[in-house]
Order: sequence, then structure tokens, then C-alpha cells
Amino acid sequence: MSAPGAPTTTGVPKAWAEDEPGATSASEAPGDLLAGHRAPAVRHLLSIADLGRDGITEIMRLSDAFAEVAERPIPKVPALRGRTVATVFMEPSTRTRLSFETAAKRLSADVMTFTASTSAAVKGESLRDTVETIDAMGIDAMVIRHHASGAPLRVTDWVGASVINAGDGTHEHPTQALLDCYTIREALTQRRDGEVPADFKGLRIAIVGDIKHSRVARSNVLAFTALGAEVVLVAPPTLMPASLEGWPVTATGDLDATLEDLDVVYLLRIQSERLGEVLLPSLDEYHWRYGLTRARADALRKEALVMHPGPMIRGVEISPEVADMPASLVTRQVRNGVVVRMAVLFHLLGSGVI
Ligand code: CP
Repeated sequence: MSAPGAPTTTGVPKAWAEDEPGATSASEAPGDLLAGHRAPAVRHLLSIADLGRDGITEIMRLSDAFAEVAERPIPKVPALRGRTVATVFMEPSTRTRLSFETAAKRLSADVMTFTASTSAAVKGESLRDTVETIDAMGIDAMVIRHHASGAPLRVTDWVGASVINAGDGTHEHPTQALLDCYTIREALTQRRDGEVPADFKGLRIAIVGDIKHSRVARSNVLAFTALGAEVVLVAPPTLMPASLEGWPVTATGDLDATLEDLDVVYLLRIQSERLGEVLLPSLDEYHWRYGLTRARADALRKEALVMHPGPMIRGVEISPEVADMPASLVTRQVRNGVVVRMAVLFHLLGSGVI
């Protein structure tokens, strides 16, 4: 038998593979869990730019290992036993919060959940005092969502924990982009009979909808292009950023003229809570011009993938029947969110002293 921590043929370190009754514990194998893992250059994950192409590739590799763990009868490993992860969400969330909390628990970390609506924030406590209070209780990572762009960056000045951006205003949502990359990579791998693509070169991806207010669009442009994909942004002029200077993309307002060349169509929710002004005549008109209707789905290449970060507003950016078609990867995106967030937590926390 190979030593604990030695990579198996599947790439899962041996100590994980033996994490069943009688298995090697994390405390018996310090460092062995890290076999093959390249430590990150930064402690925090605020932007996809913090990772770059190599960091994204490393998260994909780790996610493969955790996807294998997820298939086990007991999908849990001791990698972060004794660590504490706090989720601090100042904006609503279903997917991101639940998948981060599930990911942390599957790594055997303790989870501390902060809920803004039942916290002292409603009494007027500032963000700084809130996060310093949580940090003082002894945490290793803070997963934070905030309505203000840049809030997670400010928090890094106030806490000792690793800070993970779970969506800040209209800035970035890096773990959404990572799970999206992983989902595309998984679909390509299945199509190529198990051959994992090294990158996204040759792929043409359209991001469609409310680009102006979308943190998902910003993170995905960085991630998709870092992996070599060609990205086209599709939106009405009122929902396109005022300037795209420096964005490595092309842009158009004509969805119908774009469809036939696409490998992936990535739909965004109209962020009504951030519009602040009337930027659309009506949601019905938006659906008519930019929604992925059945007719538009039929105009896509037969192997084209349909993606959406959720929450989907059926009948606006996507018609209900298209949302439920086999080409739609929405549920796979959510499923992959857990293993990718396990990989992110392990990447940031698992490389220290265990
Ligand atoms: N995609 C996403 O961020 O969803 P939630 O708002 O439900 O977390």
C-alpha cells in the first residue's frame, strides 16, 4: 500500500481515499493531504485576477478530487478539521451560502453563520465592527457577500482570516466563475470521452443580459478569457457598461445574429434591485429581444451549452421549456458549486500548518 497522502491513480490523496471507518486521520498525516497541491500566492480570493490562469487550473484539478469525494457514501474528508469558516451574507443568497456551508462541513470545518436580518447590524453596527467581532471569535476564513463593490477588500484590512468574496455589488463573484469554468470543462470532458481539455481555446461564449450590473459577468469574462475562450457580450445598450475599454471581449446588441456560432450561451438575470432607473421598456420586451426562447434555442448548434448562475427568472431571460432542456447545465452548475468551493477552501486554508 502506498503512503498516506500519495496521489492515487484518480488523483485523490490517499489520506482522503481512506477517510472511512478506521481511516488515516488528518492529524496523523500533516501535510500529506497537500500532495501535489501548489500553495496560492495570496491568502484571499477577492477576484479571479487573484488566481490567474494557473490558479484557475489548480482549482479545477482540486475540484476533480473533491468531485470524487462527493460520489462516496460518506462524502466527507478531515482536511479542515479544527478550522472555522464564517459565512457573512449582507445580501440574500440561496446557492452561494448553502454551497459554501456544505463545502466547509464536507471538509470537516466548523461553520459559523451570520444572518444580517437577525444580527446587531439592524441596530446600526458597522461592517467593520461586525467583521472584527466575528474574527475575534477565532475563525480561519470569512466568506462575505455585500451590496457594496469592494467591501471584501476593505474587510481584509480588518480581519486576520482569509476573506473570500461571495459577491460584492457589481464588482465580482469569483467562485461563481470558477464553478462555471468547471461545469464547461466537465461537459467538454464528457463529450471527448474523458479527455480533459487543457483550456478553452477555440470556444466562443456569449454572456447575455444585464452586463452593466453583473458581478458574474465581470468574473466570468476574466476566467473564460484567462482560459483562452473568445467572449462576446450581448445586451441592450442600456444594460451594457458605459465603457468596455480594457475588457478582452467583443460586444453586440444583436443576439439573433450571434447564436449560430456559439459553444456556450450564458444568460444573466436582470438585476431589478440594482437598476435604480428605468433601463428597459418592459420585461416582456426584454424577453422578446434577448430571452432564450425555444426558437432561439433551436437556432443554436446542437452541442451548444446553456448556462445561468441563478436565480433564473423564467419567462424573462430564459423560457421555462429551455430552462429544462438537456442542454441546460443550470443544475450541474449548482451541484459543481459544492466541490469547487471545497477546492477553494482547501486551496486557501489547507496549505497552512494542519
Ligand atoms: N448564483 C448566485 O450567486 O446565487 P445566490 O444569489 O442564490 O447565491
